[in-house]
Amino acid sequence: MKYFIGNWKMFGVPKSINILNKINSFYSKDKNRKKYGVIITPPYTLIESYAKFFKNKKIYIGSQNCYQKDQFSSNTAAISPYMISKVGAKYTLVGHSDNRDEGDTNEMLKNKVQFALKNNLKVVFCIGENKKEKKNKKTFSVLRNQILKVLEKKFNKNKIIVAYEPIWSIGTGKIPTRVELEKTTTFIKKVLRSIFKKKSPAVLYGGSVDGKNIEMFKKIKEIDGFLIGGASKSSKKFIDIIKNYYR
Ligand code: 13P
Repeated sequence: MKYFIGNWKMFGVPKSINILNKINSFYSKDKNRKKYGVIITPPYTLIESYAKFFKNKKIYIGSQNCYQKDQFSSNTAAISPYMISKVGAKYTLVGHSDNRDEGDTNEMLKNKVQFALKNNLKVVFCIGENKKEKKNKKTFSVLRNQILKVLEKKFNKNKIIVAYEPIWSIGTGKIPTRVELEKTTTFIKKVLRSIFKKKSPAVLYGGSVDGKNIEMFKKIKEIDGFLIGGASKSSKKFIDIIKNYYR
């Protein structure tokens, strides 16, 4: 099973549901549809209406983040996993580099993962090294640390997906080489197996994925799917990625 997740970031108003409608009509007729799942993470403001609309369809709605407390609290503007789950989201991203940049610590991320799982949300846990860390050959130690400081054996691995998003690749058009990515994905799965034993959770790649470079990514069998930013805001670009993946 592969995943194509579209992360809209700060994009979208109610009528942007047109994009999802187009993706849904492609998906419902696609002969390959049993091989993959589509998840879209719009901003908080759209989760409820989109999730209602797609309730009986196979497109799932997720959140881009959640607060590190379970239900209700006195934190202004915070939105908890419980609240997200109650309006129909099935997934949440945790630890996107945008949020790590804004101060998410490992301890906060651990709480987010824990409370998201408790509230029946599947977690897409994002990790990735920055340009300087890559240059200094710190990629593996950074990734190992990001995983081991947050994920624990007691978490249900079937509800966790890990998204490897090198920060230097996000929104830049730069992507890792095939060899680099094969090595990194294999390494990430090895670290995950050291926690969860036997089978690793799914590992996705994210960073400048488009309809062209998917030709290279699809050769890497270890990659279980993609977290797509910019290209997910256009139904055509998003569909092209899926079409070219199965071509
Ligand atoms: P881009 O696909 O725009 O590089 O964004 C990747 C990303 O950050 C998805 O979460």
